[in-house]
Amino acid sequence: MKPESCFKIDRNSIAAHPREFRAPSAIAMNRAQARERSIGQAWEELRLLPELELEIGCGVGWHSLHRAMTLAREGRSSRGVVAIERTREKFDAFARRLAQHSVHQVPNLTGVHADARLWCAREVTKPIFDQVWILYPNPEPGRPQRNWLREPFFSHLTRIVKPGGRLTLATNSENYFTHSCDAHEHWRRSWEMQRSRSWSKATEPKFQVRTHFERKYFERGENLFELELIRLPP
Ligand SMILES: C[S@@+](CC[C@H](N)C(=O)[O-])C[C@H]1O[C@@H](n2cnc3c(N)ncnc32)[C@H](O)[C@@H]1O
Repeated sequence: MKPESCFKIDRNSIAAHPREFRAPSAIAMNRAQARERSIGQAWEELRLLPELELEIGCGVGWHSLHRAMTLAREGRSSRGVVAIERTREKFDAFARRLAQHSVHQVPNLTGVHADARLWCAREVTKPIFDQVWILYPNPEPGRPQRNWLREPFFSHLTRIVKPGGRLTLATNSENYFTHSCDAHEHWRRSWEMQRSRSWSKATEPKFQVRTHFERKYFERGENLFELELIRLPP
């Protein structure tokens, strides 16, 4: 599937421009921070690494854990992963899973129980990320403005990814995918559409699933959609 082929755009479905992200007040950020919890390597240490990946909505942490273990196995100790999940039950499952591994197996992973918007607004103001993963976000069909590329937060996300950095977004919702492609139009100067594709168990039976939700959708034989954007220099 060529990048252009995902542009089945319904221009009436969503407004033309997302609002600019406004950082929450210090009070709101302090309150949020008081409720947050971290596992794995301390963020204060991880953030010193020259290369970083961010996963937003990591669920039970399969993908981030696998990613961090792969980096460690490949000797890429200069690259770390920060994985953020907002739902407590999922984060607890992530914490239990991480606790089954030694620090040698997973040296460069920080898991955070937080709202990714608030956490990123508070912790990151410079382009430090080489890769952002958003895998199977809640599609919220009746609220296309909640698409991550439509959110005001996307302007902040754009600021904290390095030039040449990547954003990978996967979904099982064709509508969500189409709306993301549509929203990308607004970000053409900041992000290049590197790739978009669609696949299923029927077309790629040997596909290695990466997340809990991806496994569920793949096993059901649903079509999966993914787009990859590259951050252009400012
Ligand atoms: C459908 S689940 C997918 C989880 C995982 N990525 C997977 O594929 O198995 C979407 C997840 O995003 C999380 N999420 C949604 N908005 C978030 C936010 N603002 N910050 C952090 N996590 C968020 C939800 O709690 C939920 O666990």
